[in-house]
Amino acid sequence: MGFLLSLLYLIVFFICFLFYFFRSTNTIPKNWRELKSEVLTIVEGMMSQNQDFILRKRNRIKLMSLNGRVAVITGGNRGIGLFVVKKLLQCDIKIVMGVRNPEGAKQAVESIIDKSLYEGKINYEHCDTGDMNSVRKFAERVQQLHPAVHILINNAAVMATPYQETKDGFESQMAINYTGHFLLTHLLLPQLIAGSKTNDGKNVRIINVSSCAHRTTDIDFDDFHCKKFYYPADAYAKSKLAQVYFTKYLETIFKERDLKIQSHAPHPGIVNTGLFEHSTINFIPWFKDLFYKTPEQGSRTIIYAAISPYLEGKGGTYLSNCYFDKSHSKAKNFAETKRLFDYTCQLLNIKTFGVI
Ligand SMILES: NC(=O)c1ccc[n+]([C@@H]2O[C@H](COP(=O)([O-])OP(=O)(O)OC[C@H]3O[C@@H](n4cnc5c(N)ncnc54)[C@H](OP(=O)(O)O)[C@@H]3O)[C@@H](O)[C@H]2O)c1
Repeated sequence: MGFLLSLLYLIVFFICFLFYFFRSTNTIPKNWRELKSEVLTIVEGMMSQNQDFILRKRNRIKLMSLNGRVAVITGGNRGIGLFVVKKLLQCDIKIVMGVRNPEGAKQAVESIIDKSLYEGKINYEHCDTGDMNSVRKFAERVQQLHPAVHILINNAAVMATPYQETKDGFESQMAINYTGHFLLTHLLLPQLIAGSKTNDGKNVRIINVSSCAHRTTDIDFDDFHCKKFYYPADAYAKSKLAQVYFTKYLETIFKERDLKIQSHAPHPGIVNTGLFEHSTINFIPWFKDLFYKTPEQGSRTIIYAAISPYLEGKGGTYLSNCYFDKSHSKAKNFAETKRLFDYTCQLLNIKTFGVI
């Protein structure tokens, strides 16, 4: 009996130790709801890491020339997005990057890809996805640059940041990761529709970069801006769930309107990037170096979503390791996805989605 109790004590001690060092956020959970969110995030992350390892051979994408296509990406100046940009360029795709620091983005791209290979193929434009005004200006700039867009990659994100309200009065993670991208998609829909009329037999693609963390939470319509309850990891998960709902609902709109556009929500894997800035794991770099995907490996599922011929006509899907994966059970619930869609339109004063 004494031995069993000691063993139990050791196991509990070990679990506490793990949670102390591998928290998804620097904040220590203060109540059961926060603890639940923390535990679910850690478990989901560990399961994804496991899957990344088991399915590492499947995480492959064949690049091809897609000359004449135009892609718009938010972020992309570092982390996974930088390698997405590199692969798009390797496919001869023209790019407009929406970034907070266009000059810094140019330097970052030039540091990983030979300038002569992509001369004139990228526009670096200012965009802060957490500021709706900035998103509007960015969309206008894209409209001036390209009458037709074929790929939109809603990639920019922050994770587990402390509570902050944006200029528009929105909770910042939801605004940066989801609401700004929702608005951008709405504003660029005319260009995306023009892209879908390019006579190359290919659907236009909208990619909402999501995360396995989306499975750990629910959308709280009574507290959308997290004024009553805010836990950093949970707010991140909510923004990523919103992107999955958005992806699913977009697909129904495109089918209804008979548009040659499809949407995907890829999870890139657990990837060694600056996204973990607010996580305790950030203080253990060797762990991330050893066990996480590299940003290049993380970029593969996003590129797969953007160009794979296999996915043609298979929109509305959540992807991971270059294949379909299971998303949150509620994402299949049409009423739930429509509710969020209508709620967001109302929040942004959008009367008819895609009609400006
Ligand atoms: N890393 C992972 O393990 C992981 C797992 C699941 C999903 N994801 C998803 O993968 C995507 C890329 O993440 P990452 O790991 O590459 O992260 P990262 O290295 O931290 O890069 C984030 C990117 O988003 C940009 N960004 C942040 N806030 C912005 C804002 N307000 N306006 C415009 N751009 C902004 C950053 O630009 P600045 O340089 O200006 O900050 C940067 O380019 C995200 O959607 C993330 O949720 C990542």
